Amino acid sequence: MKKSFTLFSLLLITAPVTIALAHSGATGIVKERVDMFKKNQGNLKAIKSHIGSEDYESIVKLADEIRDWAVKMPEYFPEGSNEKPSEASPAIWTDFDGFKNAAMKNETAAKQLIDAAKAEDQKAVVDGFKAVAVSCKSCHQSYKLD
Ligand code: HEC
Repeated sequence: MKKSFTLFSLLLITAPVTIALAHSGATGIVKERVDMFKKNQGNLKAIKSHIGSEDYESIVKLADEIRDWAVKMPEYFPEGSNEKPSEASPAIWTDFDGFKNAAMKNETAAKQLIDAAKAEDQKAVVDGFKAVAVSCKSCHQSYKLD
C-alpha cells in the first residue's frame, strides 16, 4: 500500500514534466523549422496590423523575412524527417517537386507583397497579403498533417 502510494506521488510529480516535453519535444531540424514557421506566423500577424497603419517600411522588412524563409524551406525537409511531434506529411517526399513548387509560390507571393509595399500602393498591398496567406494555407493543405 505504502509502495503504491509512493509510486502514485512520483507520477504526480513527473506527469507535468512529461506533458511539457511532449509539446516541445521537437529536436534538431524539426525544431529549427517549426521555430521558423512560428516566426512566419508572427510576421504575418504583424504585417496585418502594419497594413492598418499603412506602415509600408515595416511591411517590406517582415515580408522579406517570409521570402527568405520560403527560399530556404525545402532544405529544412530532409527525407524522412517527420518523426513525432512533426506534422510534416509523408507526401512531401513522395512529391518533393510539388512541395518545392508550393514553397516557390510562397516566395512569389511575398515578393508581390514587398513590391506593393515599396510602391506604397495600399490596394496592391492588401492583394499581396492575401496571396501570401493563401500560399501558406495551400501548402499546409497538401503537406502538413493536422
Ligand atoms: C511549402 C510548404 C509550406 C509553406 C509555403 C508554409 N508552410 Fe507552414 N508548415 C509546413 C509544414 C510541412 C509544417 C509542419 C512542419 C513540421 O511539423 O515538421 C508547417 C508548420 C507550420 C506551423 C506550425 C508550427 C507549430 O507550432 O508546430 C505554422 C504556425 C506555420 N507552418 C505557419 C506558416 C505560415 C504563416 C506560412 C506562410 C507565411 C507558412 N506556414 C507557409 C509547410 C509550409
